[in-house]
Amino acid sequence: MNCSACYDLLLSPLERRFLSACRSRLCAGLSGQIVEAGAGTGLNFSHYGQHCRVLAIEPDAAMRERACQRANSHIEVVAGRAEQIPLPAHSVDHWVGTLVLCSVNEVAAVLAEARRVLKPEGRLHLLEHERGSAAWGRVHDLLTPAWSWLSGGCHLNRRPRLSLEAAGFGLDSWETVFRVGGSPFQMGSARSV
Ligand SMILES: C[S@@+](CC[C@H](N)C(=O)[O-])C[C@H]1O[C@@H](n2cnc3c(N)ncnc32)[C@H](O)[C@@H]1O
Repeated sequence: MNCSACYDLLLSPLERRFLSACRSRLCAGLSGQIVEAGAGTGLNFSHYGQHCRVLAIEPDAAMRERACQRANSHIEVVAGRAEQIPLPAHSVDHWVGTLVLCSVNEVAAVLAEARRVLKPEGRLHLLEHERGSAAWGRVHDLLTPAWSWLSGGCHLNRRPRLSLEAAGFGLDSWETVFRVGGSPFQMGSARSV
């Protein structure tokens, strides 16, 4: 079993309990040109509707291979990084990221690139976990170096909402959808302001 199969297996309890419904909500009603950053094994793909043209970017070869198996004719999976999207400026209707800002090296560079490709009326959609508050936050700070090493780069102590605001996005919606191990999982959408 390679690491992409492990990813699906490890995530499956959360997927069944919470994530699949969140992915479905996040993708509902999207249409036009979509960029999915860090598509992983393609767990969002079955939630996109027929009117979506999805460019799914994934740097990890094993994850990408599994994503290709889940792709359909509306979805193109490419190697690359969210810091450099192979599309012109202002050409994208929706930028989608699920559990990805926790894993990228440079959150600010990824969000700047999302702003570059999004149309003025375009939207960014995120599902992310955030550093817990108070004692949980300190636990997440302590665990992050080991967890990041074990999980291939995931940081438990990021604050996606603050990163969005710092990058010049205004929130249309933002809510905590469930909690695991003191981490609020949050989803919402935002636009360039
Ligand atoms: C925790 S996984 C999430 C995968 C998928 N989005 C999901 O919801 O299951 C994080 C993914 O981000 C990818 N990733 C890491 N750095 C990235 C970058 N700079 N640009 C795009 N994807 C990146 C990893 O290879 C991994 O597949």
